[in-house]
Amino acid sequence: MAMVHTCFRFGRRLTIVIVFAVAFIITLNNIITYQPVDDYRRENSRDYNSGSNATEPQRQSFPNLARKSQWFRYYLTDQQIAVQNWKLSPDPHNFHYLHNPLGMCSNAQGPSEILLVIFVNSSPGNAGKRAYIRNTFGSYYAWPSQGEGQSAMRIVFLLGAVRDNKLQADINFESDFYKDIVQESFIDDYLNLTRKTIMGMKWVTHFCRRASYTMKVDDDIIINAPLVYNILQTASPTKFTLGTVLFATPVRSPRGLYGKFLTPESLYPDKVYPPYFNGHAYLLSTDVVENIYRVSLETDLFPWSDVFVGMCLKKLGIRLRHSSRFLSGGFPMATKTELAENDNALDEIREYVSVFHFTVPIMNQLWEIWTREL
Ligand SMILES: *[C@@H]1O[C@H](CO)[C@@H](O)[C@H](O)[C@H]1NC(C)=O
Ligand SMILES: *[C@@H]1O[C@H](CO)[C@@H](O)[C@H](O)[C@H]1NC(C)=O
Repeated sequence: MAMVHTCFRFGRRLTIVIVFAVAFIITLNNIITYQPVDDYRRENSRDYNSGSNATEPQRQSFPNLARKSQWFRYYLTDQQIAVQNWKLSPDPHNFHYLHNPLGMCSNAQGPSEILLVIFVNSSPGNAGKRAYIRNTFGSYYAWPSQGEGQSAMRIVFLLGAVRDNKLQADINFESDFYKDIVQESFIDDYLNLTRKTIMGMKWVTHFCRRASYTMKVDDDIIINAPLVYNILQTASPTKFTLGTVLFATPVRSPRGLYGKFLTPESLYPDKVYPPYFNGHAYLLSTDVVENIYRVSLETDLFPWSDVFVGMCLKKLGIRLRHSSRFLSGGFPMATKTELAENDNALDEIREYVSVFHFTVPIMNQLWEIWTREL
């Protein structure tokens, strides 16, 4: 009888422990897997890609998510506080180079020898992603050669400074080996991504202005090199821009849980942002890059880098050209067998300029499709 009783008590405790464990896992899961900004961006680019010039965002009320946001803001106070305390002032961008591959663009034969320079905003710890890029669209062999057998493309990876000596040693090694790392002395941090983008524009202005076009990308995407090459064959030589344009994005959206979509009025009083390119990937002619760099030094530094570039383009009066096939994340990817049976799916995929947030096997598959005829 006593034993049965103990057993029962033990069972009840176990039940309580299990209930708590499950609740804990569910909560943790919500916190970790929930990615409000990307969800929001995806929703939005779908809306805006459909061609309407909405001045007001179309979907705004999501009571469930709004409730979650209270939680989220509670846990993200560090970034929130940094943004709340943000001092609006221009940044002279006086940082020095820890690494700078000076020869990257200087060995070309003439001013028009380099078609495209790509700069990749990369996180210092992402050596694996950089390796993947070097083997795909970052490979010189993925691009036709131009003059004297040199590739039409150059690529550099942009890094900020790190406090971890071991990581810095790895970066030094990687830089010595590949000679494609540009590293500046500002602290690498999410809230310093605007500095990193300015760094790219500055580097192109000072060290690679002979490239006709510049592409800014993040390190978690793969681009369709043959298609980009074709687009550039007929692109305007100056004032050229192309990317996924986000029009009239709300600054303080009920769905904006933190960051770009919950910017305090003290930082940005207007209700909507100026048009800006989704920062994952966009193309500019190099005169535009030089102009952005010039006005960026006189523009209040803004925490969200792609919005900041939009502000600079607005100051310059340069039109942002939108392409709905420029950037894809999360489109339903056909499997290999479906592709084999479905020419339309294949044709559609060939038209994608870049995709992001995919697993390596899917990116491999895309790369294989894009480069099949090379
Ligand atoms: C979008 O805006 C442009 C310029 O204001 C206008 O000419 C065009 O008709 C608008 N398109 C739609 C679908 O409203
Ligand atoms: C950005 O870099 C500057 C210069 O190194 C540094 O003072 C600042 O703390 C960095 N910002 C963040 C959010 O780390």
